[in-house]
Amino acid sequence: MHAHIGQPTSRYDGRAKVTGGAKYAAEFNTEGLAHGFIVTSRIAKGRIKRIDASEALRVPGVLDVLTHEHRPNMTVRDKAYQDDVAPGGSPYRPLYDDKVLFSEQPVALVIAEEWDIAKYAATLVRVDYEEEPHATDIHAQRGEAYEHKKPAKPRGKAEKAFEAADVQHEAEYFTPVEHHNPMELFASTVIWEGDGRITVYDKTQGVQNVQRYVAAVFRMKADDVRVVSPYVGGAFGSGLRPGHQLALAVLAAKALSRSVRVVMTRQQMFALGYRPAMIQRLRLGAKSGGTLDAVMHEAIGMTSQYEEFARDDASWSGALYKSPSSLLSQRLVRLDLPTPTDMRAPGGATGVYGLECAMDELAVKLGLDPVELRLRCYSDRDQNQGVPYTSKKLRECYAQGAEAFGWQKRNPQPRSMRDGHDLIGHGMATGIWEAMQMKTAARIALTANGHAEVSCATADIGTGTYTIMAQLAADMLELPIDNITVKLGDSSLPASPVEGGSWMAASVAGAIGAAAEKVRKELLRLAKKMKDSPLAGVKLAEVTLSDGKLVSADDTSRSVAVADIMRHGKLDRLEQEAAADSNDDGKRARYAHSAVFAEVRVDEQLGIVRVTRIVNAVAAGRIINPKTARSQVMGGVVFGLGMALHEETHIDHRFGRFVNANLGEYHVPANADVHDIEVIFVDEPDDIINPLGIKGVGEIGVVGTAAAIANAIYHATGKRVRDLPITPDKILR
Ligand code: MOS
Repeated sequence: MHAHIGQPTSRYDGRAKVTGGAKYAAEFNTEGLAHGFIVTSRIAKGRIKRIDASEALRVPGVLDVLTHEHRPNMTVRDKAYQDDVAPGGSPYRPLYDDKVLFSEQPVALVIAEEWDIAKYAATLVRVDYEEEPHATDIHAQRGEAYEHKKPAKPRGKAEKAFEAADVQHEAEYFTPVEHHNPMELFASTVIWEGDGRITVYDKTQGVQNVQRYVAAVFRMKADDVRVVSPYVGGAFGSGLRPGHQLALAVLAAKALSRSVRVVMTRQQMFALGYRPAMIQRLRLGAKSGGTLDAVMHEAIGMTSQYEEFARDDASWSGALYKSPSSLLSQRLVRLDLPTPTDMRAPGGATGVYGLECAMDELAVKLGLDPVELRLRCYSDRDQNQGVPYTSKKLRECYAQGAEAFGWQKRNPQPRSMRDGHDLIGHGMATGIWEAMQMKTAARIALTANGHAEVSCATADIGTGTYTIMAQLAADMLELPIDNITVKLGDSSLPASPVEGGSWMAASVAGAIGAAAEKVRKELLRLAKKMKDSPLAGVKLAEVTLSDGKLVSADDTSRSVAVADIMRHGKLDRLEQEAAADSNDDGKRARYAHSAVFAEVRVDEQLGIVRVTRIVNAVAAGRIINPKTARSQVMGGVVFGLGMALHEETHIDHRFGRFVNANLGEYHVPANADVHDIEVIFVDEPDDIINPLGIKGVGEIGVVGTAAAIANAIYHATGKRVRDLPITPDKILR
């Protein structure tokens, strides 16, 4: 039935990307393009007293210097600045007023004929500030944390159950600020069309989100703003909300009535959003037999002074394991930093790190194998909601992952496995992520020669969306995959939410399925109009497309060639658009799960850790494309490896400023850090969640990985490091 769905199909966009044919936001050119360079604040809090641009304006080639006092109009309507995924609060608005809310905030834009001129002239802009005291340290401010929201209802009497438990584990875990650092810099190229319309080539995970934002902020008609983003050079959540460069580029284009490009520097991008630091206190109470009596998880996160960003870090702890009681809380500290944003598995990567390290520590106290503890606490219901799952093959993840890893060979004693200088450790953790679907539309245009174009305004942030759209359309229309053209990343295409939350595969599959159904319906209607139609009296549910024909499934001798139908209908092109939404009725929980196994080698003298093997067994429903899905999980694992060992954004609290805002000092795993990664997709049929049983794989790979590595480091060294990243100094300390 499915010739393409489930096949390891190579990337639709692969050739364009590796040959340089793929164009990114900063690569679209037009005649007379001007260039903007952003001037940013050196203080973290206060107001701008005075901006002196006179020296910058004297530089030959400089066209203008925009500031909050000298710029085209932007709306005063607060709501206009809230994009589709804005958290509560009042968003930062570039060059809106004299307030400084965070260090590295844009305070002026120099526009010049050439980028180098703008960049040079930006150094000549003098800004005087009235500085106010700032607070940027989550640890120093934790006493000020306020209750954000209750993650999930308390269950039972957790405090009491914990006190009475045979075995208790209590500890605090910490994950620092991290930045996404996609390869592609944030950029917007605004093409001044000259008739009141603009076209914006933008780096974004949601072209229609950007379109709505620009139209609202600049009081334009949505139809006059076209946003295009065919390729995205990585984003990981950093491109969910409009970047600062977007409003600046539009302001500049309006000021000059001319096309303008603004590219952010790597350093400036650190002010766009980040994974918030998280302090977590875990308390687990268990019976000596290894079942849980109490799960308590308190998370303290951080947000800015002007918006309230938080994801559920603690909820996972209440949901995942069987426990009669649980108590969860999520609090926030307000700091003078930019608002955090979603970063791959927001809330999950961090919250599950705390939970899964705590479970490992509990297993040690119980004298139980870590996998065995998780099996004893296994739950067939989402413990928070008290409902069963659409599907959950986590047991199979543990079994297949352990088998592939060789877990049974592990000596449970810490420091018991070594090879020369190296202490060897084996650790594991569970992963869990939501399986969501969002309302999304797609259009299919079928031509009489048997080609089809499938389109949707979604992005492909490197996840493989182009490719799976081609696979889905090919199977749903029964066409060879080479006959499918995919269009995405254009605001003029059918409605799509931002690409995020691992929801796009399920969402776009629903949309293409609905559009394909409308295509069949229209073909059947036309076929029935034909004289002596072999399909007379046949119902829509009974027809399929096969081999270029519309066929009755009950009697395959009754068929009409699509080309004939279209010829009779006098059509070259049959176009249908449809939308699909989630069927979630709240009666079943929807999650992808995983079991991650890690091997580390720790140099005993130097404390240097190498992660030599990772096996990640994932249950995420039907896998549309095992090749791109495997890449997604591998990428997630590398993210988790970075989280465990390398990634940390340092803040110099004297200046309230991120100080390692560059790829030299912000450490990410390099090739030499990444060794053997094996991805297993556990068979997980699911006929409830959506027609194809799709759950999504963009984020599950990172969840649990850092914990598995941290647990392996404990096993290797006997030393428990609870604050990430686990750098050599912490191991040797
Ligand atoms: Mo993802 S953090 O929803 O791009």
